[in-house]
Order: sequence, then structure tokens, then C-alpha cells
Amino acid sequence: MSDIKRVGVLGGGLMGSGIAQVSAASGYTTTVREVSDELCARSRAAIAKSFDKAIEKGKATATDKDAALSRLAFTTSLADLASADIVIEAVVEDLGVKSEMFRELDELCGAETIFASNTSSLTIAEIAAATGRADRFVGMHFFNPVPVMKLVEVVRAIKTSETTVERALAFVASLGKEPIRARDNSGFVVNLLLVPYMIDAIRALESGVASIQDIDKGMMLGAGYPMGPFTLLDFVGLDTTYKIAEIMYDEYREQRYAPPPLLKRMVIAGMYGKKSGLGFYDYSKNPPVPNDIGV
Ligand code: CAA
Ligand code: NAD
Repeated sequence: MSDIKRVGVLGGGLMGSGIAQVSAASGYTTTVREVSDELCARSRAAIAKSFDKAIEKGKATATDKDAALSRLAFTTSLADLASADIVIEAVVEDLGVKSEMFRELDELCGAETIFASNTSSLTIAEIAAATGRADRFVGMHFFNPVPVMKLVEVVRAIKTSETTVERALAFVASLGKEPIRARDNSGFVVNLLLVPYMIDAIRALESGVASIQDIDKGMMLGAGYPMGPFTLLDFVGLDTTYKIAEIMYDEYREQRYAPPPLLKRMVIAGMYGKKSGLGFYDYSKNPPVPNDIGV
């Protein structure tokens, strides 16, 4: 049984909104911190929309939705997370941004508060180093889309106490998720294997192996993946994938993690994938069509 009652979520983007939704749906008083009122409103709308889909699929009722939304608050002030029992960070994949937020929160939160990061590729130890509570700092890596994906990687870093890991495991179970324990190596279990696969698909496209659509179709129909690699890249976010690949390449100095030039060019051009409306596919069309990126 989890001893946690109040949850703070840093960031109301793709992942922060999903984490907040699942937390509120599981009965926790949940406060999301975003950087502007506009982004707070956008996160609330995304959560309401996802609940509507859950209702449509028979996974929740309108009463569940209303109850969960009544447990959710949005703020632009970090101080509003001071009374949280756990703070789960899901802001942009950037060590400086994450460290700065935790540094401030370390002064504001109580001694028992657990700090958790949803980072995809940074090591937990390097984020925890910004705080005086590395023993109460854990990795808590959710998967996109959070309301649907069952897995959460719980990561014990070099100074994390076993008590903190156990509190984190109990909390993850209380969300109806399946935890696995992972070591604090960049990419943990899933991204260590998934990131080279996604990057390889871009390299295959660059070298003219097949079209975006045919590579996607190949991996769906030939290997049983629910989405092809380009649909998945657009879904994860090309900006986020680029940052993840850079961080993993820097950590391991292995070519298999190096971001391909095409990925970099697309990010520079503002093609972030589904969230910006354009990536490997053009989402202004229904159904989306492959983007003409000249390869
Ligand atoms: N809330 C709750 N449940 C929902 C829901 C919602 N908003 N929307 C859908 N569901 C449920 C559905 O009821 C259905 O459940 P059942 O299987 O019990 O019927 C299930 O979720 C699938 O829903 P759909 O049938 O609508 O969707 P789909 O079949 O088109 O699948 C998908 C959608 C789950 C996203 C699937 O395409 C998929 O698994 N894609 C791959 C996703 C993936 O690989 N994610 C990991 C990305 S990497 C990452 O996250 C780590 C990182 O650090 C980058
Ligand atoms: P996103 O782009 O949807 O959201 C980014 C969030 O960061 C937003 O809330 C934004 O307001 C905030 N942000 C940006 N700059 C900021 C700043 N300077 N100060 C404070 N906040 C700032 O990204 P996302 O996909 O939700 O990713 C968030 C985290 O989750 C990243 O660490 C990412 O690696 C990780 N993650 C992503 C996925 C995925 O599939 N997208 C899966 C698992 C983990």
C-alpha cells in the first residue's frame, strides 16, 4: 500500500499530462506545474480529451472523469508543490532545466518527499546531484501513451535508498502499472534497445532502402509492431528523440546512438512529429500522409 497522498507533476506536456491523468484517476490529489497559464489550460484540455477516449473505450465512466478532474490542480508556481509526497518530473529532456527545478524544490519540499524523474536518457544520479536528497531520488520512467502503456521502469541510482525504491514501487503499483527495476544506465532497459531501432529506421530511409510508409508497413505486418518506426518517432516527438540520442551517444560514445543528420535537420525545421502537426507524416491530412522531406 502506498503511503503517498499528494502528487506533484513537473511539466504538462505529452508525458506530464498522462502521468497527472493516471495519478488523479488513481485517487491522488495531483498538482501539475506548467510554465504559463496557456500551457496549464492546454494540459487540462489534453487530460479531459484522453478521459473522453477512455470513456468511449469503456475504460472509465463520466463519474470517474469528473472525480479525477476535481482532484487535479494546475499552477505556474513551484511553491504549490511544496506539500507533495512525491514530485514526478516530466519536463524537456535537458539536464540544466531538470536540475534547476529540483534545486529549487529541494528547498521547498519536506524531508520525506520523494523526487522522481521520468527522464528517457539522462542518468538519475546526475539529476539527483542538484539536490541534497540523492537517497530519496529515484527514476520513474513511464511510457507513451501513459494511460495505456502498462510499464514503468523504477530506477535505483547510486545513492537511492532501498526504502525509496520500495515506496516508488508501491506507488507505481497503486497506479495500476507494472514496474520493473532497472539500473541507472542511460536508457535503462527499454530505450537502450528501442532508441537504436528508431534511429536505424531513419538511417534506412536516408540510404533509400524503402519509403516511410513501406518501412512502417514492413515492421507492422512483418514483425508485429503496433506502430511502424516512423509513426512511433512522430508519436514520441522528434525533438525529444533527438535529445535522447544525443545524450545516449555522449554517454556511450557508440555510433548506434548517434542521431542521424536527417533527424537533426527535421528538428531544426520545427518538424517535431504529431505534437507539431508535421514530422515523418503530415497530420493536417486525415489520414496522415508521408511528409515530402526529399529522401
Ligand atoms: N485511456 C485509457 N485507456 C485507453 C485510452 C485512454 N485514453 N485510449 C485507449 N485506451 C485503451 C483501449 O481501450 C485499448 O484497450 P484494450 O486493449 O483493453 O481494448 C488499448 O488502450 C488500445 O487502444 P486503441 O485500440 O484505441 O489503440 P490502438 O490499438 O490503435 O493502439 C497504441 C494505440 C496503444 C498507442 C499502440 O499503437 C501502441 O502500443 N503503440 C506503440 C507505443 C509505444 O511503443 N510506446 C512507447 C514509446 S517509447 C517511450 O515511451 C519511452 C521514451 O522514453 C521515449
Ligand atoms: P513535451 O515536449 O510534450 O513537454 C515538455 C514539457 O517541458 C512541457 O511541459 C514544457 O512546458 C516543459 N518545459 C520546456 N522547457 C522548459 C523550461 N525551460 N522550464 C520548465 N519547463 C519546461 O515532452 P514530453 O514528451 O512530455 O517529455 C518530457 C520528459 O519525458 C522528457 O524527459 C522525455 O525524455 C521523457 N519521456 C518522453 C516520452 C515520449 O514518448 N515523448 C516517453 C517517456 C519519457
